Amino acid sequence: MNSPTHADLIAAALEARQRAHAPYSKFLVGAALEDEHGRIHTGCNIESASYGLTICAERTALFKAISMGVRNFRRIAVAADSPQLTPPCGACRQVLRDHCRELEVILCNPRGESKVFQLSELFPYPFHDDFLA
Ligand code: THU
Repeated sequence: MNSPTHADLIAAALEARQRAHAPYSKFLVGAALEDEHGRIHTGCNIESASYGLTICAERTALFKAISMGVRNFRRIAVAADSPQLTPPCGACRQVLRDHCRELEVILCNPRGESKVFQLSELFPYPFHDDFLA
């Protein structure tokens, strides 16, 4: 299967962002996670009236993919609209690291801006499963 392009992943994240359920913060986020076969798994943030139960777009995409049996990932695009490109929160960095030793993280917005990071630079010295051995 062909890999989606950088632009394809960004478009998928922006489209997923339109489906965000964020009535409290009004901060809409979309994510598009590419698996090892080039398939895209999307997610959006889903807020709860009990605010702490909110789930971020990145974890929605990751948990959807994992629940479908997918285990290996290449890239994630995260789309939001803020003055600076929005990075994954600390909780999402940990959970992404739980499932991806390394991952390309593309931050993007609806104005056509984007920047690429490696998860390892966003989340250096992670806690991970080797510590539990
Ligand atoms: N949010 C995400 O979905 N991903 C991020 O990377 C940052 C924050 C969501 C959670 C909440 O619904 C809203 O943005 C404001 O924090």
